[in-house]
Amino acid sequence: MLDQSQQPADVGLSPLNLTQASLAADIGALQRLAAKAQPVVSAEVSGPQGNVRPLTIVQDPSAWMASDFTNGSAPFIYQLSETDILELRTSVAAALDQGVPQEGNLLKLHEKLIGEADFPLPKLGPKLKAMRENLRSGRGFQLIRGVPVHDWSNRESVIAYFGIGLYLGKVNSQNRKGHLVGHIKDIGHDLSNPMTRLYATNGAQPFHCDMSDIVGLLCLKRAKQGGDSSWSSAISVHNELLKRGRQDLVEELAKDQWYLDRKGEIPAGKLPYYRIPIFNYHQGYLSVNYSATYYELAQRHPEVPRLTEKQKEALSYFNALARSDDLRMDWTLQPGDIQLLYNHTMLHNRTAFTDHEDYNERRHLLRLWVSPQGDRELPECYADLWGSITPGNRGGIIIPGEQPTVPIEAE
Ligand SMILES: [Fe+2]
Repeated sequence: MLDQSQQPADVGLSPLNLTQASLAADIGALQRLAAKAQPVVSAEVSGPQGNVRPLTIVQDPSAWMASDFTNGSAPFIYQLSETDILELRTSVAAALDQGVPQEGNLLKLHEKLIGEADFPLPKLGPKLKAMRENLRSGRGFQLIRGVPVHDWSNRESVIAYFGIGLYLGKVNSQNRKGHLVGHIKDIGHDLSNPMTRLYATNGAQPFHCDMSDIVGLLCLKRAKQGGDSSWSSAISVHNELLKRGRQDLVEELAKDQWYLDRKGEIPAGKLPYYRIPIFNYHQGYLSVNYSATYYELAQRHPEVPRLTEKQKEALSYFNALARSDDLRMDWTLQPGDIQLLYNHTMLHNRTAFTDHEDYNERRHLLRLWVSPQGDRELPECYADLWGSITPGNRGGIIIPGEQPTVPIEAE
């Protein structure tokens, strides 16, 4: 059951204002960071992931800096081969030939494509699994180029992307409607309403993690201008705070006192907000959960404790580091590009954009939220948002009574 009582008029803040306020605060935070920056003298080091000790600098491939990828090489890009593309075309055509149940805009794709055997990718499948391992134990991000979306209808692209998802893990619902493939498109949702989920607008999205182990975006159309992506390593943000002598902020961000708003997508029996630390040390792993504006939005609930000055300072520094040139990687997705990120170690954002007049030419991405088997253990606090902490069966937005479905077009 959804809580329908969340009215925007109760809030009085817009995401845009929150974002602008955050950006202004970040400038000051960066200036203070620069002024206070100290060389690492005695910071303790641990790692890799699996052997991380709390409050130590994590030495791990996921703790990268932007300069690690500015030497001309791009090891994070995989260009699909002719064989890969032929496999995708063949499996999409086979699924269509055999028939996919459809009601209006909605495909029951999950009833048709249940496992890898239902969408054979004999050469590409093992490569996708190798990329998945690099997400989890390597740098945490991957680009795939060359999906032939220009040859396909939206229905064909959706089927291909869902089929690719089968090789990454369990594909999860992303919203209150049970969408297993999400459409990132400006469909006119009100940007001034703080309850609006920004993927249905043309607004900027500040740095955050998604509610799944892995998030994948397949670009179908680019915006007329803007809509660019950035990534930062959340593990590097953690490390940089320690290197700058701000262990106090790392300790603050690891406390169980961070409340986030659910934006009205509330499973039965749950509160309209949830609580989870930003830095989670658990069984030798550092997993990060961060969604920039959701902390401020949760302040609309009177029973949620007010953000302290220390918390505001910690958020400001965190955001400033994530946005800094040293940590941030910028990328403009082209049609046919897939961006894969591991949410436990990566942060992502996007810039605002101007779209085309023609609705069919507007910026359009397809999103997957995936939970792979054998993933890292997470602390119990994730279950309040993710439904479960069982690897391979966690994450997403699960509203009891909602049936999973796959929309062909944005709705
Ligand atoms: Fe996201």
